[in-house]
Order: sequence, then C-alpha cells, then structure tokens
Amino acid sequence: MLLTVEDLHTRFITRDLDDRVRVAEALNGVSFGVGEGRILGLVGESGAGKSLTVTSLLGLLRPPARVTAGRALFEGRDLLALSEAALSEIRGSRIGLIVQSPRSALDPLARIGAQLVRVQRVHRRISEADARSRAEAMLVSVGIPDPRRRLEAWPHELSGGMAQRVVIALALINEPHLLIADEPTTGLDVTVQAQILDLLHEQVRRRRIGAIVITHDLGVVAQYCDDVAVMFAGQVMEQGAVAEVFARPAHPYTRALLASVPERLVLGTGKMLGGPPPDLYALPRGCLYGQRCAHAAAQCAAPPPMSATQSGAARCHFAGLA
Ligand SMILES: Nc1ncnc2c1ncn2[C@@H]1O[C@H](COP(=O)(O)OP(=O)(O)OP(=O)(O)O)[C@@H](O)[C@H]1O
Ligand SMILES: [Mg+2]
Repeated sequence: MLLTVEDLHTRFITRDLDDRVRVAEALNGVSFGVGEGRILGLVGESGAGKSLTVTSLLGLLRPPARVTAGRALFEGRDLLALSEAALSEIRGSRIGLIVQSPRSALDPLARIGAQLVRVQRVHRRISEADARSRAEAMLVSVGIPDPRRRLEAWPHELSGGMAQRVVIALALINEPHLLIADEPTTGLDVTVQAQILDLLHEQVRRRRIGAIVITHDLGVVAQYCDDVAVMFAGQVMEQGAVAEVFARPAHPYTRALLASVPERLVLGTGKMLGGPPPDLYALPRGCLYGQRCAHAAAQCAAPPPMSATQSGAARCHFAGLA
C-alpha cells in the first residue's frame, strides 16, 4: 500500500457560552488504503467527513479541529506524527492536492508559467529555464494546446476546464506518488468532466501513482475508480474493489446510496438519504447508521466492527460472510 490510514479520529473541540467544553466527533476511526496505480473513490453524503479526512491527513486542519488519534503511513512515515515543516515539504512534492475550485487554487496575480515554475523551485533545486521547459512539457501532458503561449496566460483568461487542467499540472509537476482530488470536476460541464477524469486516470496508470478521488457521483466511481470507501458520520462503512462492492453491496447505507442513483438524488447537495445524520456532539453508542437503518436490531446497540464480506469489508453486524 502506498498510503495506509488507520483509525483516524478528528474532533472539533470548543467551549460554549457557559465555558463548557463541547466536542464534535467528526471522524470516528477512518481506515482505508490506497494502492500503487490504483484510484480510491471516497463517497458518502454531504457532511460524512470526506474533505475532513483529507485535510486531517495533510495537516491542513484549522482550530478548533484536531486529530486526536490514528496513523497514516505514507512512504514509511506517519503523516499524523510529522512536524508542520516536514508535512509542508510533502504537500506539493510527494502528495499532490487538487481542490474543487480551480479558481481558488490558482494565484490570480501570477501567470500560469510563473506558478508552474514557482511550485517546482519551492521543492527542488532547478534552474528557471529547466523549470520552464518542464512546465511546458507538463502542459502538453495534461492536454493543453499551444503550451508556450499558455505559460504567458493569466488565470482569468482560462476556461473552467483549462483552469482545472492547469491545477492538475501544478499537482503533478513535482511527480507526486499520491494524488488527492476533492471533487475535481464539480461545476464543470459533462464533456469537460469526462476529459479531466480521463486525464487523471491516464496519469495514475502511466506514472503508477495512487490517487484518492472524492466525488458525490457514483457513476464516476464506477467508471474511473478501482476501489471505493463509503463514508457515513465519520466512519468508513464499507470498502472494497468497486466492481465487487457495487455488484454486492453488504452495508445498508451502500445499498441506499446505490438505490438513490436512478432518482438522481445527488449527494453533496445538502439532500439527505432517509433522514439527518447523527448529531456529532452526541453520537449514539452503537452503530452510527442505526437510527436510519431499516434493518436495525438489538445487536446494533453495540458498535459493529469492520468485518470481511464477499465484496470487501463492511461495518455492519449483518454483513458477514456467513
Ligand atoms: N467548526 C465545526 N464544528 C463542528 N463540526 C464541524 C465544524 N466544521 C465542520 N464540522 C463538521 O465536520 C463534518 C465533516 O465535513 P466534511 O466537510 O468533511 O464533509 P464532506 O463529506 O466533505 O461533505 P461535502 O460532500 O459536503 O463536501 C461535517 O459533519 C461538519 O458538520
Ligand atoms: Mg467535502
């Protein structure tokens, strides 16, 4: 495994007006792995903790959020135990991050070429001229025509699809081993979305790097991802190879998600599948999905462990192999 996340816990710890400590348990034991040359799709409804998982791993949390437990092994080191200096060296070099809005990822005051040169020179000793020619080659490999001219362009001169390609070029230029994309195509039209995802897919295969793609679109997972992790209330409820999990979903939440697809009940739009998620300030003791689950039974008062299924693993008392 390129990245192995084990039992990640993140909390928001605040004080109310009466100075009582309030704790929101946002991530409750997230575990998953990303293999070389593979794309992991991270799915789950809005608020499930997908983005928070990534920001926790990369040391990008802001107070009052704090990682309170867990390990995240990447290239032999635990990301959660590294200093801010060590993590910032890894971000943008060993791990490339692609955020949802390309506009916010680009510096509006710098030409595309200058940004591509700068990100290289922050992380390695390279001459201006060499960095520029690598930037030009990278624009070609992300499918940007006439790269020499594009290097001179300002971010506002680019279309949404072109801007997202530039963001991907920025994420890839230092040859990271892991690429993390949080809703990389939200807001782009369908054709451009397919082009961007094809590009990510091709880069992962060609460079044999690992990738995490966060998306609310299960069609995207089916088409582009190798593995899937389904999140709910800050836990991975089910995981496995996409083909297996989608053919034989073992967790009631995965089944509900898959059943919602034909009706276009799009996740990540604030709509909820069959009720609100549990209150993160007062989580139930047993299964976190229990309140919503049609199959909840007496056993569910105890938290279900992750256990093997025919298609991978699921956190449900009734999902076992038997
Ligand atoms: N300051 C805060 N205090 C308490 N809880 C918070 C705070 N900020 C965020 N949260 C909670 O953290 C959880 C994780 O949200 P996160 O942004 O990771 O969700 P997501 O799965 O990425 O959703 P989306 O699909 O909408 O992007 C949410 O339930 C949110 O309510
Ligand atoms: Mg998010």
